[in-house]
Amino acid sequence: MKLNVNGVEHALESGALTPLLHVLREELGVTSPKAGCQSGGCGACTVLVDGEPRRSCLTPLGAVDGAEVTTIEGIGDAHDLHPVQEAFHTLHAAQCGFCTPGMIVATVALLKRLPQPGRREIERALSGHICRCTGYVKIVEAVEAAAGGSR
Ligand code: FES
Ligand code: FES
Repeated sequence: MKLNVNGVEHALESGALTPLLHVLREELGVTSPKAGCQSGGCGACTVLVDGEPRRSCLTPLGAVDGAEVTTIEGIGDAHDLHPVQEAFHTLHAAQCGFCTPGMIVATVALLKRLPQPGRREIERALSGHICRCTGYVKIVEAVEAAAGGSR
């Protein structure tokens, strides 16, 4: 099996039924996708597969053989923040940060598809992402700010 992860090609040893989450974390050492519920309900493991948000805990490696996978490591880093990361940081949309990588990759995909989303579209795009800390208001405001529509 092969994957392109954040622009780097990898030939993998994991079996076809291994969850993508485990391949990323255990075989490749890409640790931003978090192992939360591991049953599709929390969004903490979300990554982009060919640009679309996917629950990596529910995605067997064999189903994405040859795909391009993007995690937050491929979106920006502390020295070169993506505008969505910048907005989350500036507007205090993260506390413990466990949900944040999944929230941000889902937001990046949303803004690519819909550059000026309304509040309803933002809430729909992030509806499967559980945050135990923030109360969601600051997260939605950060997405609005990243879209250039800070209100
Ligand atoms: S860990 Fe995948 S949805 Fe919760
Ligand atoms: S910031 Fe802690 S779970 Fe969201």
